[in-house]
Amino acid sequence: MIAKAVSLLAVFLSLSQAGLNAYVEQTSLGGMLYLVNRRYVLSRQYEPPDLVAPRVSGGDKAGTLLRQEAALALEELFTEASAQGYELVASSGYRSYKKQATIWDNKVKQAGRRKAALYVAPPGASEHQLGLAMDLARKSNGHLNAAFGKSEEGRWVADNAHRFGYIVRYREKWTEITGYADEPWHIRYVGKEHAQAIHELDIPLETYVQQLSAAAFGEYLSEDGR
Ligand code: DAL
Ligand code: ZN
Repeated sequence: MIAKAVSLLAVFLSLSQAGLNAYVEQTSLGGMLYLVNRRYVLSRQYEPPDLVAPRVSGGDKAGTLLRQEAALALEELFTEASAQGYELVASSGYRSYKKQATIWDNKVKQAGRRKAALYVAPPGASEHQLGLAMDLARKSNGHLNAAFGKSEEGRWVADNAHRFGYIVRYREKWTEITGYADEPWHIRYVGKEHAQAIHELDIPLETYVQQLSAAAFGEYLSEDGR
């Protein structure tokens, strides 16, 4: 446990010194638990090491790559969804810093900076650059909008994604914490253990990481003081 607390300490020191920039591979709080948001940003250069095309519907399109572990988990998720009669399609996975910059610039031009900021992460601040996020759509209706969340497929995703290591990352009730509006289509791979815990606690990733580090630091400090 001490080792874990020490590694958490290293993580938070590195985060406070330089954002995730050069440290992204050392900032795992366990497996794939990286926190990327407007505060903890990725460098322009960061590219995930093991991107692959998930073998799912839409997974052969450009722009749907994922890190290998996340891709395998997505394949399992799609297989089970399909077995239960829910047909999903992968819409947007890994995005480079440059690609995210283009999406951000276009959205700002189209909707203005304030509205754009509710739906699109500025370059460096997107989990899509981690290769651990996927936007999903229905096969019958490819739109990424609130209707996905209300559809049978969207409800299945919200209820089941955690079993495959994914969380629905942005929900309306968490906007003040995450900074984003409801995005029922955006799922983020964190691994099964963390996804299960986050689902049960019903909290955003920011809060989960904070709670985890507070617990670990508490133990670290009390053991150190003995
Ligand atoms: N839509 C999410 C917030 C992103 O751009 O990463
Ligand atoms: Zn997304």
